[in-house]
Amino acid sequence: MERATTPNRIELALASVARDASTCSACGLSETRTQAVPGEGSPTATLVFVGEAPGAREDLVGRPFVGAAGRLLDDLLMSISLRREEVFILNMVKCRPPENRNPQRSEIAACAPFLTRQLQALQPRVIATLGRHALAVFAPNAKIAEVHGRPYAQTEREQHHGAVLFPLYHPAAALHNGSLRPTLERDMAALRAYLSADTRKGAGEATLREVDSVPTRPRSETTGEAE
Ligand code: URA
Repeated sequence: MERATTPNRIELALASVARDASTCSACGLSETRTQAVPGEGSPTATLVFVGEAPGAREDLVGRPFVGAAGRLLDDLLMSISLRREEVFILNMVKCRPPENRNPQRSEIAACAPFLTRQLQALQPRVIATLGRHALAVFAPNAKIAEVHGRPYAQTEREQHHGAVLFPLYHPAAALHNGSLRPTLERDMAALRAYLSADTRKGAGEATLREVDSVPTRPRSETTGEAE
């Protein structure tokens, strides 16, 4: 599929995904959803966050990350001088899994064409995955505890819709496990540093060395739980 080049075209492409998702019955989640949650943000965003799936509040409101995890995401964005209107926030699965269980492989596969269409329309420079499930969509073999807080496999832009993948822990993980919060804050600062370097140098030329100058992990941090 061709990239939707102008904001208007991008908006049309995104609206078409939202329409199709709202009537989608490709998996069982369509039977229990209140509504699909396609995502929201700036059609010209260069940074896209990909979460897991809507929760109860998102299912009711029809917007991504509007519950407790969303408030933390907003705070984290603010900490790097970004507002959600300036980025795009979406989920790999557009409908709420019952009881907030993890999406099943078949559900992720059924929803994948929507994610692909959204990323093809947006053509972000950076895809920041939130949590291990979203990371697995783009990098099935990566372990979040090992790769969070820095660009992942930067040479593989083509495999990620032309974007650099920047894995982050899921905000909900930091809510459950408070010790992850400083890690997430540091990783956001590293993301900010990466974005600044990328903007200065142009896509494809920001170096890992600049990101390495941001302390992303305290020495004592173990590579524990993947969230
Ligand atoms: N968790 C997600 O992954 N997505 C949401 O929209 C809300 C919570």
